[in-house]
Amino acid sequence: MLVAGKSALVTGGAQGIGFAIAKRLVEEGARVLIADIDPELAAASAEQLGGPAVARSVGCDVTSAEAVKAAVDAAVEAFGSLDVMVNNAGITRDATMRKMTEDQFDAVIAVHLKGCWLGTRAASAVMREQEGGGSIVNVSSISGKVGMIGQTNYSAAKAGIVGLTKAAAKEVAFRNVRVNAVQPGLIRTRMTEALREDVWASKQAEVPMGRAGEPEEVADVVLFLASGLSSYVTGTVLEISGGRHI
Ligand code: NAI
Repeated sequence: MLVAGKSALVTGGAQGIGFAIAKRLVEEGARVLIADIDPELAAASAEQLGGPAVARSVGCDVTSAEAVKAAVDAAVEAFGSLDVMVNNAGITRDATMRKMTEDQFDAVIAVHLKGCWLGTRAASAVMREQEGGGSIVNVSSISGKVGMIGQTNYSAAKAGIVGLTKAAAKEVAFRNVRVNAVQPGLIRTRMTEALREDVWASKQAEVPMGRAGEPEEVADVVLFLASGLSSYVTGTVLEISGGRHI
């Protein structure tokens, strides 16, 4: 059990990659609070993971400082500490710059970049005061490494998460709080199932391993960063992309 007895919070954990992360953490002995903007789905997902003893849920919009702080407090209240924070919540509002509205730009920056900052700030405030410190994992994207057409908002936000991760890692390392990021490539979830078939095929063709990844393959890397296996790893960015855009 790699995270036995640890308390974890996963934003956007009601489905997709976040749910796979929450599941993996529970399997490895953690108790998890799923914080998601969709409270019904979050509750159903927590139930699916085994219910209140190991998984709970809270409605939370990560763009709200109060809501993020309340979620962190709820995890501490429910499980006695906060050892692992996964800032995973995300949306896409793809459009080329010619067509992208300011609202689409702002929404994506707010959920990914501000949401991640709020989560990192609130979690590290708790973790730095704890005996064992903690581990924060921010979900960036390969889109933040290379820049994707139609994603000036998303690529900017995901690249911003890398800068945020490195700066935060430096600020809290002395308190044994680690902050790392992951950059998934093409992963099969509701977000990517919305892609047109030809767009999906062209993205998949860019993957040296020749296939899309599964949410569980992201969850395994997050588990590594959450656990003591990565005790001397901070401020890093791990790509989970089957070799795409290396
Ligand atoms: P998804 O759409 O399946 O799940 C996203 C979850 O976030 C949903 O449960 C949604 O309700 C929640 N959410 C959305 N806005 C929220 C908010 N304001 N506050 C709280 N929760 C909110 O998406 P997926 O694919 O699981 O994505 C998870 C993360 O992985 C995102 O940050 C995404 O950008 C990132 N990612 C996904 C890739 C993929 O290929 N699917 C590739 C690279 C990164």
